Amino acid sequence: MDKFSAHPSTNQPPRRFIQVCQYRSCQRFDSEAVLKAFKQHASPELMVAASSCLGQCGSGPTVRVVPDNVWYCRVRPKDADEICEQHINQGKPIKRLLHPRFHPDYNRLMQRLESQTEEV
Ligand code: FES
Repeated sequence: MDKFSAHPSTNQPPRRFIQVCQYRSCQRFDSEAVLKAFKQHASPELMVAASSCLGQCGSGPTVRVVPDNVWYCRVRPKDADEICEQHINQGKPIKRLLHPRFHPDYNRLMQRLESQTEEV
């Protein structure tokens, strides 16, 4: 199954996709355990997969949530529960884990996500 294809049990595309970098720099900071922690939350609506380098090697492990286009940095395995519970389930990204390069302003991020939700 490619990253955006339909889930075999529901025939619906997943609503969100979590990419967890598994390339060199992130691997040094235990990105494999981060991926494993996120996979515990995988469902027909949430796809979790390894990715190659996401271009943010100095602040890994790097995690990206699509289609929200939210980037997290220095993610630890224990953070997966919080990201899934608050961001994926409640729509509130975890401010302390956001990559500052992409998300310098939390309020602006929330406005963008809310406008995306309204468009759906
Ligand atoms: S090695 Fe993970 S972002 Fe580059």
